[in-house]
This record gives sequence, structure tokens and C-alpha cells, in this order.
Amino acid sequence: MKNNTTVYFDNAATTPLRKEVIGAMAEVMENCFGNPSSTHAFGRSAKAYVETARKGIAKILNAQPQEIIFTSGGTESDNMVLHCAVRDLGVKTIISSAIEHHAILHTLEILEQNHGIEVKLLEVSDKGEVDFNQLEEYLALDNSPKLVTLMHINNEIGNLLDLEKVVVLCQAHQAYFHSDAVQGIGHYPFDLEALKIDFLSAAAHKFHGPKGIGFAYIRKNRKLMPLIHGGTQERGLRAGTESVHNIVGMFKALEIANDLWAKEKAQLLELKKYFLQKLKTLFPDAITNGFSGDLKRSTYTLVNVALPLPESKAAMLDFHLDLKGIACSKGSACQSGSTSGSHVLNALGTATQWPSLRFSFSIFNTKAEIDYLMQVLEEFVTT
Ligand SMILES: Cc1ncc(COP(=O)(O)O)c(C=O)c1O
Repeated sequence: MKNNTTVYFDNAATTPLRKEVIGAMAEVMENCFGNPSSTHAFGRSAKAYVETARKGIAKILNAQPQEIIFTSGGTESDNMVLHCAVRDLGVKTIISSAIEHHAILHTLEILEQNHGIEVKLLEVSDKGEVDFNQLEEYLALDNSPKLVTLMHINNEIGNLLDLEKVVVLCQAHQAYFHSDAVQGIGHYPFDLEALKIDFLSAAAHKFHGPKGIGFAYIRKNRKLMPLIHGGTQERGLRAGTESVHNIVGMFKALEIANDLWAKEKAQLLELKKYFLQKLKTLFPDAITNGFSGDLKRSTYTLVNVALPLPESKAAMLDFHLDLKGIACSKGSACQSGSTSGSHVLNALGTATQWPSLRFSFSIFNTKAEIDYLMQVLEEFVTT
């Protein structure tokens, strides 16, 4: 590939929009500017788009339309569920882990400090696996109402959580279960009729949809009250005029992801295998963080790797890749600019002096781009 090429390997941070998504959004922006709360024809037309999207998203997840609440994205959905579970469901103890996204961890700090909630963080292995025995132990500690919040796919190391296993444990102890599925929805099929989870968080920009839109899945009869007060939108649960074009874009993105899921998963698995193979040839000592090198236990979209580089080289690595037009991430994207390193890698306790990079892929990536990356890395270590 030419040197002025730009290569985007940061799809866990955000994904490019699909053309069809842009088309669907543009159509709404051009032709449907009404406020869905207005009762005239303009409003009714906007409302129809919103409700069609809600029904469509619910159908894809095998959920009920009223269980889908549109929000501004993953962070808001996480905040909504945690705050409301404490306020409205009487939750006194929240069980989580140290490798959750900061949208969870920082919310837990607030709930602990301001609301006296007991937060129990599960230990994780050096691969980032949560301790299920400890989860059971915490669930059985006392009879206080509990919420478990554990992410479906870790955004830094790609580890997959066995959601069904957590559901079974939570049900046995009458605890609520929320999962931050921001990295999972749009990449894995969900059947929420079968999977008896109470709450989920999702964000469209992780599956080729627009930014600033997502949803919270709230199972029927889990009676939450609004966190954002105002109008009666979202059945009174989340005030504010609906972002109609974003909602339509999210639905379109999820619809395409769902239609093409098996094909795109196979394509991306192939790409990930190719990446791991090339990496091993170039850096036989490289260490994949968490389960990200294990095709069965991590998502097919990312690899997080510690590269065996001397300190002098390590300091220049990010800069060099950027200069060569390659975008990837040092830990989590939300952390860029931070000097304290990734809280996830720190929690695994396997921190090395080697620099760790997260490469995350989408169907718009190619093997030629991986070849280009390897060529750039090879030149970097040998010069
Ligand atoms: C696992 C996870 N949770 C939550 C978020 C926050 O989502 P949003 O950017 O839509 O607020 C992200 C985004 O990086 C994420 O990866």
C-alpha cells in the first residue's frame, strides 16, 4: 500500500457509518423535520419513524417495543439503569468488576459516595475473567436487593462474558442483572425472550450507526422512573425531543448488521486470524492481552497486544503509526491523553514495560491494510 494511505483500526472506539445509514438519515433530515410530540401531520410522520424504529429494533432483539428506551448512547443508558435501580428498585448492593467501562465505574463511585450503596468489585484473573465463585458468594451474602452489572464484551481486551451463566446465578438469588452490551449489540445476535436479563445498554456508533444515540433495554415490569425530567417522551421515562434522524440511522445500522451478521462475522474472523498470524511471525514474543488472542473467548473484532519493544522505541510507537496514517488505540479510546495507563490492563496485573495497542476491525478493513501495518511495524523495529 502507498505511504499516504490512511488505515482505520480503531473500530472499538467508533465505526464509520454505512452508506445506507447515511441515506436513511438524510431522507429523514430532508423530508421529516416534525416534532414527534406534535399532533399534526408533520409530527405524526416523525412519530411514525420513531415507533417503526423501536418496533424494528425490538423485533431484532426478540424484545417488546416498550422495552426499548432511546437514549443518547452507552454512557446515558449505563447511568440511567444504575441510578434508577438504586432509586426505584431499592438496590442496596451493586456487584461489578474493575474492568468495566468508566461509564459504569464512575457511576458506581457516585452511588457509593452519595447514596451509601455497597459496591463489590469481583476479582479478575490475569486474562480478565471474572470470578464466578466470588459472584455467587457476594450474591449469597445477605438478603439486601442487589444489582449485578457486568459488560458483555470488554472494549479494551475483547473478552466475552457468558451472559446466560450470570442470568442463572442472578435468578437463583433474585438479583437484577444489567449488562453494558455497547460492544456486543450489532455484533452478536440477542434473543431477549430467551435470555432473561433485566437491563442492557447499547450505542449505535459501535455498529456503523450515528453517534449520540443508543438505547436502554428495560425488561417489562422493571419499574424505573425517569432520570431526565421534562416532557413525556419515551413513555415518560426519558424526556427530550427524540433525535428522529439518529433513531432511524440506528435502526438501519442494526437491521443491516442483523441481516449480514453471519457473513460479516466470518469475514472479520478471517481478518483477525490473519492479523494474529502476521503478528506472530513479526513478533514471536508479543503477548495478546486478556483473551483477545483466543478466537473463542473474545470478540472477533479486536486484538489488544503488548509489543516487545525497548523503551526508546516504545515511546515513539503511537506517533510513528499516526505519522504513517494508521489509527489504532492505546488502551481505551476514552483514555487517550491519560498518563495513568489503562485501568483494564492494570486490573489484570500483567502490566509490562512493553507498549500495548488495541487494533479493532470492521468489515471495511482488508488484509492489505494488515500487510501495510506489519510492514510499517517491521521498518519501525529494524531502523
Ligand atoms: C463498553 C462501553 N460502554 C460504554 C461506552 C460509552 O458509550 P457512548 O460513547 O455511546 O456514550 C463505550 C464507548 O466507548 C463502551 O465501549
